[in-house]
Amino acid sequence: MNQEYERIQNLIKKAESEAVSGETCRYRLGFHIMPPTGWLNDPNGLCQLGDTYHLFFQYSPLDARGGMKVWGHYMTKDFCHITYAGAPFVPDASFDRDGVYSGSTYVDDNGMHIFYTGNAKLSGEHDFTTSGRRADTVLVESRDGIHFSPKQVVINTDDYPEHYSCHIRDPKVWQENGMYYMVLGGRTREDEGRILLYTSADLLNWSLLKELAAKEHFAYMWECPDLFCLKDKYILSFSPQGLEKREFMYQNIYQSGYFVSDYNPVTEDVVFDESRFYEWDMGFDFYAPQTFLDAKGRRILIGWAGVPDAEYFNREVEAENWQHCFTVPRRLAIKTDEHTGVTKVYQQPVSEITALRGERQICGGNAVMELDSEYWDIECNGLPEKFAITIAEGVKFSYNGSYLALTLTEETGCGRDIRKCLVSGVHSVRILVDSSILEYYVNDGEVVFTTRYYKREKGTKLAFDCGNADIALYPMGRITVDAL
Ligand code: FRU
Repeated sequence: MNQEYERIQNLIKKAESEAVSGETCRYRLGFHIMPPTGWLNDPNGLCQLGDTYHLFFQYSPLDARGGMKVWGHYMTKDFCHITYAGAPFVPDASFDRDGVYSGSTYVDDNGMHIFYTGNAKLSGEHDFTTSGRRADTVLVESRDGIHFSPKQVVINTDDYPEHYSCHIRDPKVWQENGMYYMVLGGRTREDEGRILLYTSADLLNWSLLKELAAKEHFAYMWECPDLFCLKDKYILSFSPQGLEKREFMYQNIYQSGYFVSDYNPVTEDVVFDESRFYEWDMGFDFYAPQTFLDAKGRRILIGWAGVPDAEYFNREVEAENWQHCFTVPRRLAIKTDEHTGVTKVYQQPVSEITALRGERQICGGNAVMELDSEYWDIECNGLPEKFAITIAEGVKFSYNGSYLALTLTEETGCGRDIRKCLVSGVHSVRILVDSSILEYYVNDGEVVFTTRYYKREKGTKLAFDCGNADIALYPMGRITVDAL
């Protein structure tokens, strides 16, 4: 370990020891994973090794508004009891001195093979897009998920194709038919968002196989790519930047979504068409998701419940000195709608989190209530053609027979106003209510909305205008987080 590593670890330990916590923190979360202190963004290196899930994350422990990017590390066997295992990768090498950026973990019998992007800015006059930034792909290995090998550059910035800008990053690695593959997100010099698909026989020597692109111009940059299979479909997930806002689509500054393909982009020449692009989440706070396959064969997605450069803000930053969190882990399934024939990915919270549920309570479709707990899992079934559900008097989720609308007041939304999504019928809504985040799962996860929200009072005020719907409420317990 070098001196820089020690210096940064000491700064992190100091910041974490000064973390603000306790009951006075009204926005701290009950069952969503948040940073120990400071800022969290992308989920990184998600994987299962043995019986343990490893959830790494982009972490800026010294500043709740972002800053130096290291990898934080949580471990869990059940997504309810979490262990914080410190910040294993910090910017202590020349090739990652400006940030240990996002990446992924490939697991085999030898343990973890972790790939990430080393962000390094050069001195001198640069815009850091067309010049002045290096983005080497770096490998770190670990047998046990706790002790890590030295860092090793496996793709040097000089070897990326020349028609790319300096924005190439976020390796996601997998194995297929005896070969290894890696997708990297990129921006060409012509401002086209693309994905670079590399291949390797040994995880060390990588060569470019092809580029994945949309049929027509589709955003200037694609971040955080991921390519995986769900039944007989291939899902290419990424976070495009530069899509123009529309009334019912692309409403945030940057999006996250996926193309559905009938063919494997590794072996076939697939040109991706916007007509088969779907957003992962229609709320205000969602970006840079990553998936992994667990030992039970589940494809699990975790998103960053935040967006870079958003116009809205988060109230906990000032008083509690932290910002952002993960969505709950979501299990993915592919389904074709009987009526529309549209094939999409459905998302549902992993079943483990139901272990946090307390006793079921039921209420009618027109109930108004003030509940003591901050944490709820609410299931609404048999919804009428039009309905509205209001939380904390300031967050309204409604359906008018043609589109869903999530509307926040200025006070509760801190700048979040309205997000809309066209849906041709709503039969169920499940709402995860945490002290300052809400996740709405519509029609068994066909559409999801995630938003942060800020209320004055303790407890939860609910108002249902849902006709004869059946509503079941479960108070939720908190996840536990302990140090390794
Ligand atoms: C996405 C992202 C990634 C990058 C990381 C840096 O939010 O911009 O592309 O690797 O964040 O924190």
